[in-house]
Amino acid sequence: MRIVSTHRLPGAAWDELVAAVDTEILEAWPPLEPLPGIEAAIVVSRPVDVPVLERFPDLRLVANYGVGYDSVDVAACAARGVAVTNTPGVLDAAVADLTLALVLAVRRRIVEADAFVRSGEWRDEWILPRVTGEDVSGATLGIVGLGRIGGAVARRARAFDMRVLYAQRRRVDTDLAEFRELDALLAEADVVSLHVPLTAETRGLIDARRLALLHDGAALVNTARGPVVDEQALVGELVSGRIRAALDVFAAEPSVPPELLALPNVVLTPHVGSATTDTRAAMTRLVVDNVLALTLGTPLVTPVAP
Ligand code: 8YV
Repeated sequence: MRIVSTHRLPGAAWDELVAAVDTEILEAWPPLEPLPGIEAAIVVSRPVDVPVLERFPDLRLVANYGVGYDSVDVAACAARGVAVTNTPGVLDAAVADLTLALVLAVRRRIVEADAFVRSGEWRDEWILPRVTGEDVSGATLGIVGLGRIGGAVARRARAFDMRVLYAQRRRVDTDLAEFRELDALLAEADVVSLHVPLTAETRGLIDARRLALLHDGAALVNTARGPVVDEQALVGELVSGRIRAALDVFAAEPSVPPELLALPNVVLTPHVGSATTDTRAAMTRLVVDNVLALTLGTPLVTPVAP
């Protein structure tokens, strides 16, 4: 079998893959020429739409390296008989850990404190208003989307003695967090953390009107997808200094709105929610197991429902 991948993936499972199937790393995406005979494509952060699918007339599988598959046109794939897989489950803990790190960083002003030490301005003062933050313990965390990752965030937040609320379309029976309608959650929370997939319904979910519901000094944490938030409206709120934010994802990665770069009230990370050695290796394992299942004719391990 011949397959392509947009990247060489980290972890031991990759070697198993290249030993089993003829794997070509593609520099250009979409490929410049049609590629007949390619049966599977491993895709990291690249769009899979109709023009891409047209380059792969014999494709049977798109194996997405990531749990979020908003960059893959699943309906167009299904219409051509192309299956899609993703990497659910294995990255929940890593993303939840990063989320808590960002909650702590944005409340306790860790990035500003680090910059303060490096600046050489730390002399003998003990009161440091420039780096005095807000408590995490006792603060209210509003989780938007209490799925696998949102639930893992709720469990960690409770260990920090946070009060935890959640909003989502479907109300669930849970002890992890108290339900609120989205607007009420936004008005009540000290920190709002987003854990919804990017879909037609969630695109722009946190728009200018909803951002205005956040109370002064509240923080927005986004480790989900940039376009869930109206980024220009968020930039406006952050430039005004009314709220704070910790952002791991952006509307048009890798570009970051330049207005954010000099702001003290924003923590910025480059989409590293799943970026630990073991988690990335586990994601590779799942991707490889899906491709190997295709070669063996056994059921795909983590198919995405069309
Ligand atoms: C990235 C992610 O996909 O799983 C997801 O949905 O956003 C991340 O794990 C991965 O880093 C590749 O871009």
